[in-house]
Amino acid sequence: MTTTQENSPAHVRVDGRAKVTGQALYTADHHPPGLTHAVLVGATVPSGRVTGLDTAAASAAPGVLLVLTPANRGRLGQLPDGTRYDGWPPEARPPLADDTIHRWGQYIALVVAETLEQAQYGASLVRARYETAPFATALDDATVVSRPEQVMGEPMQISRGDPDTAWADAPVRLDVTYTSPNNHPCALEPHATVAEWDGETLLVHDSTQWVRGDQAVLSAAFGLAPEAVRVRAPYVGGMFGSKIATGSHTILAALAARRIGRPVKIVLTRKQVLTNVGHRSETVQRMRVGAGPDGSLAVLRHDTRTHAAVNEDGNPSEFHEPTSTMSRLLYDVPAYSATHESARLNVMAPGWMRAPGEATCQWALESTLDELAYEVGADPLELRRRNHAGRDPHHDLPWSSKHLLECYEQGARRFGWDRRPDAPRSLRDGPDLIGWGMATATYPGWRFGATARVRLSGTAGGPRATVSTSGSEVGNGAYTMLAMTAAEGLGLPVERVTVELGDTGLPPSAQTGGSSLTVSTAPAVRDACLDIRVQLARLAGGRPNMADGDLLAEVPGATLTAEASTSPLFLRDGEFAYQSFGAHFVEVRVRPEIGRIRVSRVVSVFDVGRVLNATTARSQFIGAIIFGIGQALHENLIYDPVHGLPVNADLGGYLVPVNADVPAIDVSWIGAPDLAFNPLGCRGLGEIGITGMAPAIGNAVFHATGVRVRSLPISPAELV
Ligand code: MOS
Repeated sequence: MTTTQENSPAHVRVDGRAKVTGQALYTADHHPPGLTHAVLVGATVPSGRVTGLDTAAASAAPGVLLVLTPANRGRLGQLPDGTRYDGWPPEARPPLADDTIHRWGQYIALVVAETLEQAQYGASLVRARYETAPFATALDDATVVSRPEQVMGEPMQISRGDPDTAWADAPVRLDVTYTSPNNHPCALEPHATVAEWDGETLLVHDSTQWVRGDQAVLSAAFGLAPEAVRVRAPYVGGMFGSKIATGSHTILAALAARRIGRPVKIVLTRKQVLTNVGHRSETVQRMRVGAGPDGSLAVLRHDTRTHAAVNEDGNPSEFHEPTSTMSRLLYDVPAYSATHESARLNVMAPGWMRAPGEATCQWALESTLDELAYEVGADPLELRRRNHAGRDPHHDLPWSSKHLLECYEQGARRFGWDRRPDAPRSLRDGPDLIGWGMATATYPGWRFGATARVRLSGTAGGPRATVSTSGSEVGNGAYTMLAMTAAEGLGLPVERVTVELGDTGLPPSAQTGGSSLTVSTAPAVRDACLDIRVQLARLAGGRPNMADGDLLAEVPGATLTAEASTSPLFLRDGEFAYQSFGAHFVEVRVRPEIGRIRVSRVVSVFDVGRVLNATTARSQFIGAIIFGIGQALHENLIYDPVHGLPVNADLGGYLVPVNADVPAIDVSWIGAPDLAFNPLGCRGLGEIGITGMAPAIGNAVFHATGVRVRSLPISPAELV
């Protein structure tokens, strides 16, 4: 291990070699004997009814073994509704439920064949006739609107202080509306499932961030005890929220495998991924801020319009992009209100996408604050310092640990912010306008809970440890961080620790989501290691001066085992509010004739508690920051208003940043441990990097050009 300037240990990925040499098996790499292949058929209308489904030609095609439709799907058990955090189906209605169509691409049939090509050919022969019904895929066209009371347990319609009076009395007022489009998580590894049955036992390899969620949904669907369903996902090639819910394709793969008595593999096409697995919904956020002449916030009103799917009204675990969860607590504002309404659209059910709510909230909030800074003639960084919240104003609790002011200070220094001229269009370099912008990043601290088991065995070459927990490695570095945690806890080199992940047969862990896997599992690993040390000390007979190495030498042939758990913790407890913070400083270069925007410098500083592994943490921060560049400048999933389909549902049309869009990124962190949050002092860090990036870029674009763009993605057309 090496130590970085931030004083965090650093270790390359222990699974890196396996991943780059193809030794790491992802879901679609599994080929059990007798494997068959399935291809899904999607509806080609966005609303209406299937009046005729002709499967005769498909059924008769070479190699085709089964064509599943609503007519022969058979019964599925009641799926869990997610309110107990045990598992989520993507939509309340199970797949192939009936002939109603509520969105384009909705699965209407599944064709299973001996080979993938035969299944693809069979699927191409399925003919559907439709009776179409009116539909809406754009917020402006929607007629049905709901007002969700809560999302994931957080209230969506809230008020504190006296917003009406504060707004009426405020010397400075801004009333601005920010919009953001549909975005898609677009994980590189497409969603995939390999399902096989052994009698009444189901084994599923799945590309999921939550093996136990899958287990709950599948056991309910098939009327099995949870123990009769084993789900494995030791390696997942990215997810960003889209692999939390158990995919319809996963349920159908298991159903088909049972029906034909052979293993079934489904790999979604890229178009199916972009059409079916959930996405970040469009938002329209009206921000009204009232402030004193120095920019001190007196009132903030945050009114959001977003959308959810039709046919989901009344689904208790329905997701609505929760845009106000950060604006309510990030700054010291005495009067505050938030409203939230959701239109019903004929699109896939929206879901969690990297920093769901936080990333959209920060776009509106941090852009509005930048506008306020110009309005009152304050430096944007100084304005944020003036409104710094010393305690959580929404929950009325002290922060467990907050070092945001240090992030501002360190970021400003590394960036050279003090050389920034206030006026827009005042920096140039040759043909380019230069702009400098900043924004605050923030993300809640939560743990979903986990149990970890540690085994220490004496071997001829010395002791070896195995760490086991059911959470998945999704690219976050979990194998490495847990190996490092156990190595530290047991006094072993990292190379002598093996980590097992992503299997419901292992001790229970919650989803790899909400930036919570490491903060839930690593403390459990630490506690299990402490337990083993106590066992070792007992074995050593209490000999007081025995060194750790000697203690470990006592175990040859023996195996010591310990398990420990962490409990869930959502945002706050009786004592503290748990929250992470950061600051982004961005430079853009804009070519005025063509409006081309290049992000040329990024300096980001984070306060996420103790960082367990500098190498993978840096990679997580950089990945999320790049996601923020995509949110700001590229990503936009467009639904055709006439035909109702997503028209750019592939990686050619749905733009994401490529290397040429990404400059060198200067990432650092404060590193102050948050020991109130867990005994390792670490808070999650996977998602915070995206929060605040889009507004930092937008604010830099304004500084460069004097043009305030309030809709994402910021396009060159708006700058010329
Ligand atoms: Mo994340 S949106 O919790 O995968």
